[in-house]
Parts: sequence; C-alpha cells; structure tokens
Amino acid sequence: MIKRIGLLTSGGDCQALNATMRGVVKGLSDNVDELEVYGFEDGYKGLIYGKYRMLTSRDFSGILTQGGTILGTSRQPFKLMRVPDEKGLDKVAAMKQTYYKLCLDCLVILGGNGTQKTANLLREEGLNIIHLPKTIDNDIYGTDMTFGFNSALEIATNAIDQIHTTAASHGRVFIVEVMGHKVGSLPLFAGVAGGADIILIPEIPYDIKKVCAAISKRAKAGKRFTIIVVAEGAISKEDAKLSKKELKKVMEEKAKKYPSVSYEVAERIQKITGSEVRITVPGHTQRGGEPCAYDRVLSTRIGAGAAEAIMDEEYGIMIGIVDDKIKRVPLAECAGKLKTVSPKDQLVKAAKQIGISFGD
Ligand code: F6P
Repeated sequence: MIKRIGLLTSGGDCQALNATMRGVVKGLSDNVDELEVYGFEDGYKGLIYGKYRMLTSRDFSGILTQGGTILGTSRQPFKLMRVPDEKGLDKVAAMKQTYYKLCLDCLVILGGNGTQKTANLLREEGLNIIHLPKTIDNDIYGTDMTFGFNSALEIATNAIDQIHTTAASHGRVFIVEVMGHKVGSLPLFAGVAGGADIILIPEIPYDIKKVCAAISKRAKAGKRFTIIVVAEGAISKEDAKLSKKELKKVMEEKAKKYPSVSYEVAERIQKITGSEVRITVPGHTQRGGEPCAYDRVLSTRIGAGAAEAIMDEEYGIMIGIVDDKIKRVPLAECAGKLKTVSPKDQLVKAAKQIGISFGD
C-alpha cells in the first residue's frame, strides 16, 4: 500500500536535517518512488499556505553529508499558532486542510522545542504526527541526544582551540560565546572539550567576583591567559534572583547596551581586574557545514526508527534515543518540557574536579 508522507523542517536549522529525512524515506522503502513524499517548504509556513513539492528518490540522493535543509525552514512561534495571520487566516485549520487535501498518512516534523509544541497541538487536533528531535542545544526532554548537537560541538570546540594559541601569545582573557539558547549543554561540553578555564552556563548563575578570583588565581600561578566559555544564556547571580517581570525589563535595558551577554561579562571583568578582554562569538557557524560522523549515524538511526513507527502506524510520538536505544516517546509526555543541565551533573562535577570554575 502506498504511504503518503509529509516532511517538514521547522525552527533554527542544524546539521543532519537532510541525513535524517533521508533515513526516514530510505527506511520506508528502498524504492522511494513507491512512496508519495511531500516536502513542505520553510517549515510550518509550507503547511499553512500549501507550499509543498513532491519529492523523488533523486532528492534523497547525496544528502547524507549536506548541511542545512533541502526543504528550507522558518520560525513560526508556537504562541502565535492560534492567532490568525495578518489576513485573518486560521493557521491550525489551514494546516489541517493541507494535510487532509493531500490525504497524508502522517506528517514527520523535524524540529526543536517550539516545533515540538506545535507538533503536539496537531496531534491533539487528530493528525498522525511523528516528531524528530533536532537542535544543536540538546535541550529536548525525553531524548538523551538530539541530532545537530555533536556537529555544533565540534565547531564550538574548534573555535576554543583556535583561541588557545593566540591567547597564549598575548596573555589576555578571552571569552568564547557558545550557543545553546537557555540551556548550557553545548557550552558545557565545548568548554570541557576545548580546555576552557571558566565556563558560565544558565543553570549555574555566576558571581562576577568569583569569575575574577579564578582569573587572578591563574595569573598568580603564572598562567598568561584565561579562556572563558560563556553560554549565550549565562546569567549572573543578581539577575537570577529577579522575578520574571523584573528580569525581562533588565534584559531589555542590557540589550540596548550590549550586543550579547559576553560583552557585559567582559566589561565587568575589565573593570575589576584591569585585564585586557577579547570576545569571540562563533554564532551561526555552529549550525553550519556538514554533519559530523556521530550525527550522520544518529540521524540515520532516528530516521529509520521513524520509518519503523510509520510501518507500525504508531503516531503521536517523538523518536528519541535513550541509553543508546531508539525509543518512541509519546508527545503528550515530552512536549513543552525543557531538558536542562543539572548543576549536579557528572560532567559539571568532573569539570570542577579538574579545576574549571563555573563562577559559583
Ligand atoms: O535553537 C538553536 C539556536 O541556534 C540556539 O542555540 C540559538 O539561541 C538560536 O537558535 C538562534 O536562533 P536564530 O537563528 O533564530 O537567531
């Protein structure tokens, strides 16, 4: 029986989106042309406005190593999904209409947390949904790992490696700002892998005096430089104490003054220690380029796991990986939850043990 599958990639891109879609489609049939595969353009936008194309075996050939997404992506905030668009269109009704018009057996949605919430909403609306966890942030609840994370980790680590040699020549304090949104997983792993001296993550609010004390301690021990990995979501102890409303106001003010959190940290360090501080923000390079070998394997497993679920006609799930086993996780259990780094995490403990400061 011909299966009609819809595919879409939504939210910020990452490496291995194409590799995962290839895994799904090839996992369903070694002759892709026995299937009907519809690719929606630019994420949920394509589903809302009926922008799609039929994909053939050619589309899935040679894309294992290709970064980005062959479908394009866009951010369509979950909180606006129930709000009509500027022309008054009901987005949820429009998505359902496209789905039913194409007589889809299921919709495979690749995305992060926000994307997953909309996927769950569509499940609640009665559509057959499978969500596949993509993000460089590794912050999706219910899976040990997301595809994209390890590729981004290589890039962020490489950025820290590059800084090491120049930091040693100049004897400066260097900050490398690592992505991860509100979660410290990527900065933590990159910081440890890159041999950072200080790592600041959102889950462990920092005390600037402690950060400066760690810098001075290194200087006194004859170390010419300090490398600090600052998570883009890092937060000071003072700010962490504020209410949500107060914090929002403070952040709005800070955004007027500093391009990102690292600039504030740098200014405060410079003031207290008098050290020369330089900032590197690898930014979107962390999401760029081809997937690393680990991600190619992970996405192939996740894609094949999705194909298996489609053949079993089990929907309303995320295909995750837990204890190195592919797992079908009900969307009702994981949607809307964030996976954060516990301050008691073994890696945090190990990092502290070898002398890395978290400024706490
Ligand atoms: O979720 C992935 C991510 O790269 C985050 O690490 C980062 O905060 C955000 O997306 C950046 O989003 P955008 O590409 O929309 O600027």
